[in-house]
Order: sequence, then structure tokens, then C-alpha cells
Amino acid sequence: MTRISLTINGEQLEAEVEPRTSLADFLRVSLGLTGTHVGCEHGVCGACTVTVDGSPARSCITYAIQMQGRRIDTIESYDDDETMSALRSEFSKQHALQCGFCTPGMLITARDIVRRLGNPGEARVREELAGNLCRCTGYAGIVQAVQNVGSALGGTTEASTLRLAAVDASPLVIDERDLTSAKPKPAASEASSATATVIEQTIVVDAPCELVWAFFHEVPQVAACLPGAELSAYGADSWEGTIRIKMGPIRAQMNGKGGYELNENQKTGKLDGAGTDALSSSRVRGSLDFALSPLGANSTSLTLTLSYVLQGALAQFSRSTLAKEFVRLVVQEFGRNVSARLSRKAAEPGRSGDLNVLGMLRLLISSWWRRRR
Ligand code: FES
Ligand code: FES
Repeated sequence: MTRISLTINGEQLEAEVEPRTSLADFLRVSLGLTGTHVGCEHGVCGACTVTVDGSPARSCITYAIQMQGRRIDTIESYDDDETMSALRSEFSKQHALQCGFCTPGMLITARDIVRRLGNPGEARVREELAGNLCRCTGYAGIVQAVQNVGSALGGTTEASTLRLAAVDASPLVIDERDLTSAKPKPAASEASSATATVIEQTIVVDAPCELVWAFFHEVPQVAACLPGAELSAYGADSWEGTIRIKMGPIRAQMNGKGGYELNENQKTGKLDGAGTDALSSSRVRGSLDFALSPLGANSTSLTLTLSYVLQGALAQFSRSTLAKEFVRLVVQEFGRNVSARLSRKAAEPGRSGDLNVLGMLRLLISSWWRRRR
């Protein structure tokens, strides 16, 4: 058992949890907060949605032990929340619930949508709600309720769309122009800062800065260090390839292309691009920025910043704490592989194969244990 300290629905508390206990079970069984429902228990249905530090997260695939120092809000915490009151009332008016099983998770996601986007229009509301499944209503009432509350908060549909465009100047719509242009427009690489997930890490590479910089001039070497990545074509400032992901029931093969640029003076660079998964029609766009600075004759500081936006069916997983931790470990693995290559250590086999969740989960668990100490 591990002692954690966290804030739930505004109340600070300490608790002993097993490393294997999900946040959903912790909330329901240990704390009696049964408003959080559990349906699929593997991150698909959205019934278990709560917020962690203000962002929706699936509590069935988030471990309670990860919540040290975090703030969790469940459906029970919104009694005095005006947005939630408006949503509850509108859900009732629009017949947006029948059995009510999906409703707590649906309301938490709906609140997040209207607060972030106002009323962004029916298509975007449906896309944003794609990670919350309802077996009863057919969704029409739910979508209408969200749009009505969004309009009340942020103006008309049209006005809200304009407002959204101002915030999110580069919405993730990957069309033919994105995929046929070898080098994406600069705005694309900024990955919609309003919604992008950004992960930054700094590692120390045991090699001189000039050697590390020379390494980053070789696109195939860089790609070989990225777990799951496979390059099919490249030029001095462009690339085309695939990244394969296997995570439990989730399988994706993102095919994409993008640009590659280096700033010789500042010793910085960027690998960016966009891709689609043919199976799920999910779309991703992002960038990996890197910056070098010498620490000594044989040592270099390498800062990696991964920024990405995921849309489509796979997006329902992208906000979970576990998914973010998973991506953080991918970035960490990339840095480790770069370091291993440059330090002339034997690179571990299979780095360019599928991104394997088992190995990553082993790292995940060991990283939690390290942080507990
Ligand atoms: S119970 Fe279905 S996503 Fe968590
Ligand atoms: S109201 Fe029954 S599952 Fe949504």
C-alpha cells in the first residue's frame, strides 16, 4: 500500500492505495463517490470521466497512485456550478438521457466542451463527444443540449465558431494539402496551442555537442531512435513514414509526412508533420523540437519538446493521465536511444518496430516507483 495525498471535490485527503487500484475504484469503493460510473473499464465508453487538474480524464485507466498531489473533481462536486446546472437543465429539456448511465461522464465532458469552445457547431460537438458512448438516446438530444448551453455561454453558433477560430488558429483538419505538401505550413507545426498536449524533457547525452549536432543532420538516424517509427522517404527538409502503436486493444498505424528543419546558429531543430490512421480515421499533428547546449567537452544537454493534437476515435485516449505518461516515456526513450547511439552503447533491438506497450508499461511502473521515493 502507498500513501497518497490529493484533493477530491475540493477536500484535501490522504489515503492508502494499492498500486493496481484504478482511480475509478478508489472513488467508488474507497470514497463512496458512486456518481462516477464504470462501463467498459478499458477507456472506451467515457462513463468514468472525471477531471484531473481541470481536464477530463478516464478514471478507469488512471491509477489512484498517480494522483499524488492532483486535484480530482467528480460529478458530485458540481452542485453549485452554473455551467453544470445549465447543462443538467438542458439535458432534461432535450431528453438527452434515458437510463442515465452515461450521463455523469457525458456532463463532465459537455462542461469541458462548452467552457473551452462555447458552441463550436454540431460537427465539432459530435467529434468532441466521440469518447462518450450512450446506448439509449441516439445523441441528438445530447448534442442539442451542449450546443444550447454553449450558445448561451458564448453567443451564437456562428459567433462561437469565429471565437474558436481566433483561439485555435490552426484546427486539426488534415486534408490533401496537408498530406501532399512536403513541408507543412509553419502554423501547422504550432499544433493548435489551445488544445495541444505538450511534453518537454531534458536529458544529458554523453557526447560532445558537435557530435550530437552532426547526428541530428541525419534524418534516418533520428527516426531510428523514435520508438515505433519507420521512414519510407526523406530529403534534407522533409520526411515520410509510419509510426505503429500497440496499446492493449488499441492499434494504430499513422502514415504521414512532414518537414525537418535545423537552425545551425542556435543548434535547434524541429521535426513536424501530420498523419492519419487508416483503420480508425484518427488524425494526429505535432512536432518534436530539440535544442542542444554544451555542458562540457563530452557532454551535451538535449531538450526535447513534443507537442501533438490527436483527433478522431483515438483522441478519447489522449487526455488520460496514463496516455500522457505513455507519450512522456516515448519521448524519454527517444532521448535514451539518441544517447545510447552517441555513447556507442549497443542500441536495444526492436526500436524501429511497433511501439510496444508492455515494455513501456514496465518503464511506467518503474518510473512511478522511483517518484514515490
Ligand atoms: S469505464 Fe469506460 S472509459 Fe472508463
Ligand atoms: S442515457 Fe442510457 S447510456 Fe446514455
